[in-house]
Amino acid sequence: MTAVRIAMVTGANQGIGLALVEGLAARLGSEDLVLLTGRNAQRVADAAALVAAAPGTRSRVAGRVLDVTDAGAVARLAGELGERHGGVDIVVSNAVAPLAPDRPQSEQADEFIDVANGGTHAMLRSFAPVLRPGGRLLVVASSLGPLGHLDPRLHPLFDGVTLEGAEQAVESWRTAIHAGTAEDLGWPRWINVPSKVAQVAAVRAVAAQRRASDLADGTLVASVCPGLVDTRASRPWFDDFSQAQTPAQAARAVLELALSPRVDPATYGELVRFGDVLPWHGGSPSRYLDQSLTQ
Ligand SMILES: NC(=O)c1ccc[n+]([C@@H]2O[C@H](COP(=O)([O-])OP(=O)(O)OC[C@H]3O[C@@H](n4cnc5c(N)ncnc54)[C@H](OP(=O)(O)O)[C@@H]3O)[C@@H](O)[C@H]2O)c1
Repeated sequence: MTAVRIAMVTGANQGIGLALVEGLAARLGSEDLVLLTGRNAQRVADAAALVAAAPGTRSRVAGRVLDVTDAGAVARLAGELGERHGGVDIVVSNAVAPLAPDRPQSEQADEFIDVANGGTHAMLRSFAPVLRPGGRLLVVASSLGPLGHLDPRLHPLFDGVTLEGAEQAVESWRTAIHAGTAEDLGWPRWINVPSKVAQVAAVRAVAAQRRASDLADGTLVASVCPGLVDTRASRPWFDDFSQAQTPAQAARAVLELALSPRVDPATYGELVRFGDVLPWHGGSPSRYLDQSLTQ
């Protein structure tokens, strides 16, 4: 990595993203820059000011509005960082839209897919090319990300596909939701499940193209699973948070992957939870197909 390091996190004005920015700002050097990005100017400015003033902060911190559903804006920011700094060292694609338990998920699917999946695709497409040698490109997915959580009929849509293939799979899922055919076709009712599988598939697609050169120069592209964390996104869905982590606790393992000088080749392109790889073909669909988590 170069002397001055550039890091950026999406969806970083609260939750896990904010904790990642706090951790990066505490562990990077005083010349380094951490970009805290989010969709709302005031929330981004407030969060960036909070981190900049925190006693543990060492690096420079700047807020930047970035709505990840705007692929053009994502591309422009990547281009700008490429031109101004010669690339980016640490990129964490983390944004997610809130999902309300008391509304049908079909009504919430477009925004959820646009942020979690459209945002991930845009981040991978624009930021992978400006990732500096030795850099880290991490997508925050979840333990729902392994392909085995989907009905086997859906596996070919995501298994071994290109980034464009993963995008097409997501669009066919979206179409099925709106046509009312999703359940008949085997899609789980809880939209977080296909969304997370699709994120992991997209990361695998990009990683497959870059594996040899990335491993040669110590670069890591991977998806990560933070575990259960007490945040706005999770709070409406669980009654018991006694086992949940704080965002700062959940950020630790992700920061380790982002900042460790060494890349374990076994983690390259994979879904990593607390340093361990969750097998792509692991998981079981039944729990998420049968459970009425949603309407
Ligand atoms: N919490 C958990 O238990 C858990 C478990 C596994 C995986 N994860 C994953 O961890 C990641 C972070 O989740 P979290 O729990 O920290 O969620 P969160 O607290 O709800 O934070 C989500 C962040 O994403 C931002 N966002 C929403 N739409 C956006 C858009 N269009 N463009 C840019 N930013 C946008 C939000 O901004 P606003 O404040 O403006 O809405 C917010 O800053 C997600 O990928 C989630 O799926 C979480």
